[in-house]
Amino acid sequence: MSVAGRLQGRRILVTGASADSAIGLGICRELAQEGASLVLMGRRQEPLEQTRADIAGPERHTVEVMDLADLDAIATRMKAIAAAGVLHGMVHSASFQGYSPLSRINAEQFDRYFHVNVAAPLMLAKGLRQKGVCEEGGSIVLIGSVAGLRGQKARSLYAASKAALVSLTQSLALELADKSIRVNCLAPAVVQGPKADEQFQLLAEAQRQALLQAHPLGLVRPVDIAKAATFLLGSDSAWITGATLPVDGGYLAG
Ligand SMILES: NC(=O)c1ccc[n+]([C@@H]2O[C@H](COP(=O)([O-])OP(=O)(O)OC[C@H]3O[C@@H](n4cnc5c(N)ncnc54)[C@H](OP(=O)(O)O)[C@@H]3O)[C@@H](O)[C@H]2O)c1
Repeated sequence: MSVAGRLQGRRILVTGASADSAIGLGICRELAQEGASLVLMGRRQEPLEQTRADIAGPERHTVEVMDLADLDAIATRMKAIAAAGVLHGMVHSASFQGYSPLSRINAEQFDRYFHVNVAAPLMLAKGLRQKGVCEEGGSIVLIGSVAGLRGQKARSLYAASKAALVSLTQSLALELADKSIRVNCLAPAVVQGPKADEQFQLLAEAQRQALLQAHPLGLVRPVDIAKAATFLLGSDSAWITGATLPVDGGYLAG
């Protein structure tokens, strides 16, 4: 059956694709709807299978169980993935998130944030640049956060890791330009879903209201990030690289 859409015929790796990530699932739904064939990556098979069953054209997609903390294994795995079909891009949505008040920071925590949020996308980009892994004209989309662009109390590790992603986006864009691979970053503010619900549970009513009011258009919906990712993966953004685009309902405008 032929598939129409802006990403028709493109094979895209999506990390953090587990069905219990509202953002990962939202991205996969949209990319699949636009005709892409997806490689769904995460550490747990079952939630990845759930995503595959949920999105358009399940038969076009494959599931790839991998722990991205195993940095040295990433390039080899990318070769193996490409052996089954060359890639046209990647969305790195997997992350380690949480609060890290100064009083509780230790070296292990530092590693957990920076392995998945910074080192993994670096190694994924390295994997993608290997011969035969990604087509010319490919596109990498890294999911950052407004926390990387504005300070957030008690989130210094998460925020610093997402700020590093902004820098990585620029340097990787320069380094991969000679292979015609573009690299961009999306910076969402608070996204509707279970994670936001958990965050709101921790806040007092006044803090909840302040956080809601910091989003003039309202909280971000997963589909807003998914649409922006589709744009950055497709040919409509062919001359955009090295950019970080807030998808934040106006959070950074205030
Ligand atoms: N939620 C928000 O409000 C918000 C706001 C701004 C930005 N963001 C960003 O948006 C992205 C998605 O956020 P999210 O809250 O939906 O998801 P998330 O929980 O941060 O991560 C998504 C998935 O990544 C996978 N993952 C985590 N560590 C991994 C590892 N070592 N190896 C492979 N996969 C791993 C997990 O699936 P498995 O357990 O199956 O591996 C997890 O379900 C993240 O980059 C986040 O920082 C989120």
